[in-house]
Amino acid sequence: MTQRKTKADLRSARWFAPDDLRSFGHRSRLLQLGYGEEDFMGRPVIGILNTWSELNACHGHFPERVEAVKRGVAQAGGFAVELPTLSVDESFTKPTSMLYRNLLAMETEETIRSHPLDGVVLMGGCDKTTPGLLMGAFTAGVPMIFLPAGPMLRGNHAGHTLGSGSDAWKYWDERRAGNVTEAYWRGLQSGIARSHGICMTMGTAATMTAIAEALGLTLPGASSIPAVDSGHQRMAAECGRRIVDMVWEDLTPGRIVTAAAVRNAAIVAMATGCSTNAVVHLIAMARRAGVALSLDDLDALGRVTPLIANVRPSGKDYLMEDFHYAGGLRALMKQLAARLDTSCITVTGRTLGEALEGAVVHNDDVIRPLSNPVYHEGSLAVLRGNLCPDGAVIKPAACDPRFYLHEGPALVFDSYAEMKKAVDDENLDVTPDHVLVLRNAGPLGGPGMPEWGMLPIPKALIKQGYRDMLRLSDARMSGTSYGACILHAAPEAYVGGPLALLRTGDMVRLDLPARRLDMLVAEDELARRRAAWVPPAPRFERGWGWIYSKHVTQADKGCDFDFLERDFGAVAGEPDI
Ligand code: FES
Ligand code: MG
Repeated sequence: MTQRKTKADLRSARWFAPDDLRSFGHRSRLLQLGYGEEDFMGRPVIGILNTWSELNACHGHFPERVEAVKRGVAQAGGFAVELPTLSVDESFTKPTSMLYRNLLAMETEETIRSHPLDGVVLMGGCDKTTPGLLMGAFTAGVPMIFLPAGPMLRGNHAGHTLGSGSDAWKYWDERRAGNVTEAYWRGLQSGIARSHGICMTMGTAATMTAIAEALGLTLPGASSIPAVDSGHQRMAAECGRRIVDMVWEDLTPGRIVTAAAVRNAAIVAMATGCSTNAVVHLIAMARRAGVALSLDDLDALGRVTPLIANVRPSGKDYLMEDFHYAGGLRALMKQLAARLDTSCITVTGRTLGEALEGAVVHNDDVIRPLSNPVYHEGSLAVLRGNLCPDGAVIKPAACDPRFYLHEGPALVFDSYAEMKKAVDDENLDVTPDHVLVLRNAGPLGGPGMPEWGMLPIPKALIKQGYRDMLRLSDARMSGTSYGACILHAAPEAYVGGPLALLRTGDMVRLDLPARRLDMLVAEDELARRRAAWVPPAPRFERGWGWIYSKHVTQADKGCDFDFLERDFGAVAGEPDI
């Protein structure tokens, strides 16, 4: 048991308590803001790090939630201040929000370090905001609690339920096939996103907030509360009350995010039908927390963890709103309790086991028993072979089983623009056995490893009724995507990974049970191609892109920056002035 902090121990006391000139300045500036000394002296100062913006549709309710958090902080005797951070919205950021995850992580770390904050409430949810906030906060090391945005309501149009992303892709293919009218398409546009909140399929956002909960970093049950449910407001206020006590208890993320907690999170991710992006983010987060987690660790857990959340796109029928009503993540974790380390502590200061007490599954078609899973293994599998010596990822439950063992000729595209033009060409020379390949779409090539990995099925095949085929890239794909898509091939083509050597017409073989992905090209021929390969010119000559290009790691390492990783160097101590 750690000693409770005293007022003098508060980090913020270094700013406000001394009788010196600098502290005089700090106090006078809070008075300038209209606060009195009784508001902040001797009280835990809680930073509310808010990823709200008017271009982040998923976080539209955050201004209201900030008020609830502040109410909770004040009730518990703390002093709350809201600090804006990069919004990293998934919907509008080009070329991809992933280019900016590490910028949010840096901003989070430095915002905490440079300000008089004793603890923080991290408000996020839209895809990259969860890992970005958490990675920075892990390094900063002050007590933190994560406030997940919560999923939006189910989509609806013309009596049909609609799932974020997944139904956009599905109906887009039907439109390309000529099966959807203009009026219906416009109806989908207004019905697919009906409220504030994150995508309500088990996409990257719902996956990452579930991972945050499984790590012990949210209040129990918080991650699936719909954004517009009044319970979400109450949860926000409770986050405010709880973080103040976490400061007095000195309950830092370092005490919560242990190797056992990371393993719990990986198991839960596999059981929920997680987004493929979970691999990249969880590895990066674990490394920030000083926990070694590899692709092979994830594959090993995936092989023995059944997928039990029947939530689209890996599941067939339900969405996050249904998942919440069925008992939410606590009920899912209760099913898995024998496989989890329930002695891990959470932000509550109590164990995960205590957090799961009383959790009940209310609908066992949504949250399945282990004896009746959606898929007998976990949601992700990791491949290796001469096309991806450092790994690639596939989501078997979301693809047609006829591709589990597949051999077909490659149809290779060097850029998204080239690929897009080709797939819309009704005379494209392509068969259902072809393997569509997109390269130069990885961490450096994309840049930012955009979500291009669910390559569109060529129109020529769509019209013949095909809706899935084997696809391969060094890109990511949206967590709401589905299909036989092999992603994250590492090293990426842009840095000379073997994907760069593949040519149209080469045979590609996937053997999912053996976890192999190979091009059937002789080694001496590959050596010739390798010798002839010319590195592409750098994409950026200045600015953020330049920093990013110099320092981003490959997908299997989590795409963090090398200089932010834990073993790069010691974290700076507290400022001594
Ligand atoms: Fe924000 Fe999907 S766009 S969670
Ligand atoms: Mg996404």
